[in-house]
Amino acid sequence: MATTQTLFTFFVAAAVVAFAAPTSGQLTLDHYDHVCPQALPTIKLLVDAAVGIEPRIGASLVRLHFHDCFVNGCDASVLLDDTPTMKGEKMAKPNNNSLRGFDMIDQIKTAVNIVCFGNVVSCADILAVAARDSIVALGGMPYDVLLGRQDAMTASVDAANAAIPNPLLDLPALISKFQSNNLTLQDLVVLSGAHTLGVARCTTFRDRIYNETSTIDPDFAAALQAQCPRTGDDDVPHSLDETPAKVDTEYFTGLTQRKGLLHTDQQLFQGDGSDADSLVKLYSENSDKFWADFGAAMVKMGNLSPLTGTDGEVRENCRVVNGD
Ligand code: HEM
Ligand SMILES: *[C@@H]1O[C@H](CO)[C@@H](O)[C@H](O)[C@H]1NC(C)=O
Ligand SMILES: *[C@@H]1O[C@H](CO)[C@@H](O)[C@H](O)[C@H]1NC(C)=O
Ligand SMILES: *[C@@H]1O[C@H](CO)[C@@H](O)[C@H](O)[C@H]1NC(C)=O
Repeated sequence: MATTQTLFTFFVAAAVVAFAAPTSGQLTLDHYDHVCPQALPTIKLLVDAAVGIEPRIGASLVRLHFHDCFVNGCDASVLLDDTPTMKGEKMAKPNNNSLRGFDMIDQIKTAVNIVCFGNVVSCADILAVAARDSIVALGGMPYDVLLGRQDAMTASVDAANAAIPNPLLDLPALISKFQSNNLTLQDLVVLSGAHTLGVARCTTFRDRIYNETSTIDPDFAAALQAQCPRTGDDDVPHSLDETPAKVDTEYFTGLTQRKGLLHTDQQLFQGDGSDADSLVKLYSENSDKFWADFGAAMVKMGNLSPLTGTDGEVRENCRVVNGD
């Protein structure tokens, strides 16, 4: 009898160890495994299809997750439309006329609500998973996303304006914006590697290509000036690195050649042998190190201040609070 009980205790303990997933707050790897095993495969299917049609949507989904997490944590606040009583984040300066992918998130949410036979997958989790799946679809390495975030009931245009870094900041200000989210210099550098994907508009890099002659490659500046005049054509896009539809280390290589597109990109490599410089050089030369650190930093960013338990809700429609 004692032996049976000991064995039983042993198996229970072994099972607990085997199934203990890493957690953050109450986030877990297996949050949807029982309530909706089809959720994650469905998100991946839709992201793969969309990226196959338009690679840039992958970039846009990665950025959406970043702009969500930096403003009061990863709570899908960025997805809420304005209401008569709430000015949401969509109209914040870094987001207006710039963030995209909202329709794609709506499509994923609709599909997931169907395959799950109900509203169980949060919009915040969809953002985190869609960002990861986008990175993988564009050639990046997979990493495990913790799940179980709930969605915010409110959003703030002022919080978004305060928290999201603008492209004219110098390195110390960038470091401090990331520090506010408990992210290190290494996190700043490696997460900026997300600029391996996608594009930026003329208005975001104009000052750099005309005024930063001492920190920009002259041929690179001349080519950009031909596309981005001193006035007008504000929305003309240019890729953030040489290979905007591929997750690789070209972004960092470009920085070492003074071909960073944004002022903030080039701030990470100023040729002064600083810690930031060393990290940029490291990632430009060692893609394995980039994959490992990038995945870990995306997880860290994705775990910022999640709403769990009785905080927040699972939104039926990502654009509006339930019952509104
Ligand atoms: C370090 C501070 C950062 C600044 C100042 C910054 C700024 C910007 C700016 C100005 C754009 C172009 C927006 C436009 O032209 O409308 C952009 C694009 C982008 N950013 Fe960042 N960013 C930063 C960090 C990050 C991080 C941490 C991520 C993700 C982990 C990220 C992901 C992206 C992506 C993927 C795009 C391209 C989006 C697209 O093509 O739709 N950025 N960023
Ligand atoms: C948002 O962007 C549009 C298009 O550039 C502009 O007309 C509008 O004034 C902007 N709104 C805010 C609140 O900045
Ligand atoms: C950063 O860490 C501190 C100390 O652990 C914590 O109190 C704070 O809430 C964290 N901030 C964010 C944005 O996660
Ligand atoms: C460049 O600097 C000059 C002088 O400081 C300033 O007037 C101008 O607005 C800046 N930007 C561009 C695109 O020339």
